[in-house]
Amino acid sequence: MPETLPGSLQQKIEERLRYYQDLGIQLFYRNRLTEPGREQPASEVKVEQRIERTEEIPLPKREVRAAIAAKIPSSPPVIPIIAAPGPSLFDAADKVQDDTLPKIREDIGDCTRCKLHKGRNKIVFGDGNPKAELVFIGEGPGADEDIQGLPFVGRAGKLLTQMIEAMGLQRKDVYICNVVKCRPPQNRAPEPDEVETCSPYLIRQIDVINPKVLVCLGAVAAKTLLETTKGITQFRGQWLEWRGRKLMATYHPAYLLRNPAAKGEVWKDLQKVMAELGLQAPKKKSS
Ligand code: URA
Repeated sequence: MPETLPGSLQQKIEERLRYYQDLGIQLFYRNRLTEPGREQPASEVKVEQRIERTEEIPLPKREVRAAIAAKIPSSPPVIPIIAAPGPSLFDAADKVQDDTLPKIREDIGDCTRCKLHKGRNKIVFGDGNPKAELVFIGEGPGADEDIQGLPFVGRAGKLLTQMIEAMGLQRKDVYICNVVKCRPPQNRAPEPDEVETCSPYLIRQIDVINPKVLVCLGAVAAKTLLETTKGITQFRGQWLEWRGRKLMATYHPAYLLRNPAAKGEVWKDLQKVMAELGLQAPKKKSS
């Protein structure tokens, strides 16, 4: 039969544990000094003394406890990795010595590695600051991008430009690229074999640029990099970790064109990115 504690003692212990929890203390060690036949290392004696001393300190009032807890900085957030278990798509991505963006473009060449080459006009490699702290990753080129050879220059691209400017940046400050470099027919989502073929170049781009933050625009980019089958709504707006970098997934600008009500959510996500990069929104011009 497990021993039960008298109600008042149990209540006192619970209260004290809550107090420690308020202070951010969550780990407790069993006092092994009372175990019979056990040697007592000096370091443990100190712990025991400390435990005994705290027992004598009366528990502060609830308001005082709340004030103390409010002053203690919370521990850094744990950034989860949400990749599904199993081999990674990126394990195969070779690290290229002294890699550069022009080298990657040269390696892509006049690519015919997947079926997307059949319908494309121009390869859309990527555009922007090769030393950007912030990289935006979309899905794949659309019709305008396919004609111009530049990412995000159509309607969705104009909205992305506005978003970047609202963050206090210019397009030339960031780097913009896509998971696949050729336009999928009828703007369909890229298929797994196309993603698999093209993504090593995306990894190399990210490794060369070495940004602090990656923003995945939409489910295709997010699911590709994170190698997850989870829906984007399950992790949108949360800081995630990707190969040692911070990753934020948010909705695609094309989705926002269809669902303007979601713009507020995206703006909240981008504000987190701004805070991470120490950016401030530009002051509104007075009319
Ligand atoms: N949508 C994308 O995902 N990428 C582009 O470059 C343009 C539209």
